[in-house]
Amino acid sequence: MSGYSNCYLLALAVLLLLVAIDANSQTEPRKVKTVVFRSPKFVLKPGSVANKYYYNIDFPKGHVAIKDFHAEVVDKAGHPVPLYETYLHHWVVVRYYQQKSNELNTSDIIVGGNSGICDGVLNQHFGLGSETRKTATYVPDPYGIEIGNPKDVPEGYEERWVLNLHAIDTRGVEDRLGCNECKCDLYNVTKDEDGQAIEPDYIGGLRCCYDKTRCRVKHGFKGSKKGLYLKYTVKYVEWDASIVPVKIYILDVTDTWKKPENPTAKAKHQCQIEYSVKSCYANGANFGCTDTCSANGANFGCTDTKKVSVPFPTGGDVIYGVAHQHTGGAGSTLHGEDGRVICSSHPIYGKGKGPGNEAGYVVGMSTCYPKPGSIKIMKGETVTLLTNYSSFRRHTGVMSLFYLLVAEPSPN
Ligand SMILES: *[C@@H]1O[C@H](CO)[C@@H](O)[C@H](O)[C@H]1NC(C)=O
Ligand SMILES: *[C@@H]1O[C@H](CO)[C@@H](O)[C@H](O)[C@H]1NC(C)=O
Ligand SMILES: *[C@@H]1O[C@H](CO)[C@@H](O)[C@H](O)[C@H]1NC(C)=O
Repeated sequence: MSGYSNCYLLALAVLLLLVAIDANSQTEPRKVKTVVFRSPKFVLKPGSVANKYYYNIDFPKGHVAIKDFHAEVVDKAGHPVPLYETYLHHWVVVRYYQQKSNELNTSDIIVGGNSGICDGVLNQHFGLGSETRKTATYVPDPYGIEIGNPKDVPEGYEERWVLNLHAIDTRGVEDRLGCNECKCDLYNVTKDEDGQAIEPDYIGGLRCCYDKTRCRVKHGFKGSKKGLYLKYTVKYVEWDASIVPVKIYILDVTDTWKKPENPTAKAKHQCQIEYSVKSCYANGANFGCTDTCSANGANFGCTDTKKVSVPFPTGGDVIYGVAHQHTGGAGSTLHGEDGRVICSSHPIYGKGKGPGNEAGYVVGMSTCYPKPGSIKIMKGETVTLLTNYSSFRRHTGVMSLFYLLVAEPSPN
């Protein structure tokens, strides 16, 4: 009997000790909440394009830190839809503030965008394209993307979120890549959405695949209308003082910013968002290609490299980095002023059939999670974004962005 109770007491003591150790190591257990939402339904038929803006979408409420944001296109039954059926050109989620009483009228909207650096555009907090399924987006502890801080919301307003989603139904189309790259001839478009004539040298890009346009479908192809949704899964924790906020920056290789004449003035950025890659095969050695490319047509020795150098507005620790590239993308690197690598991110191409692994598509981007404190950007440091695309064939409407999460040094 006494042997049993001694053993019992010992076990209890060990248990209590373990509980005590556990309580010490997790002084503030953070409860990560996961919520799953669906966008309003959008309907596509073979060849058609949806470019939608959904205001005031479902989103976590209150003062919280976003830890992860994952999105993908699903059908009515909730099944993931492969990219060769519905190409997800992009989705972006932008914060704005609006008067509480106002639902439909968007005239009073104040954009509460990210921390830069493209003035007026690319101001999303979250957003990706075809790579959405295989790109890591979690924010490691102790960091978080702070939202819903009442101090940031103008009096009488509330924080809301708008989703812009651009998808192309490529079932039965003549040229899938051409449709995805928005080649104007395939869309039979001569004017853009605003009625402006498309210049003859504008071969492709978003101006030719706006909402309700249609890419050329194979003669006689029949396919039914499809109701689709963007499903998005958000992970977050309630805000507390132990969370370190991160700022969001997006750099664009097409930024044609100018150094202001007044050295104390803020640089004005002009991000074009898209550009084209000329084919080295058709044009010989004009684009920095070696003879290898035009001589044997093999997909090597022929890379289109583009770069931009911009001053970084603030400094801090890089917590996360990822590039955005389209098909043909061959990697992108952000360098510091001294040439060091801040982050290098490469596309992951699908190799099979299922959603998340569609052959030939960019199904993910590799990401950087530097050990906190190991990669810093100094305030005002000139950083250089270098990006590569294969120029084996021409590409239109390509993009090269770099998305960074940066934690500013704490004031003390
Ligand atoms: C939207 O609201 C503004 C003022 O907030 C008002 O001037 C305008 O007429 C409204 N537009 C519509 C379509 O209701
Ligand atoms: C292309 O557009 C023109 C005029 O906008 C129209 O006459 C023609 O039928 C269209 N072609 C196709 C294949 O849709
Ligand atoms: C881009 O290509 C150049 C050569 O054309 C190479 O030196 C560089 O490492 C490449 N960068 C990336 C990020 O792949």
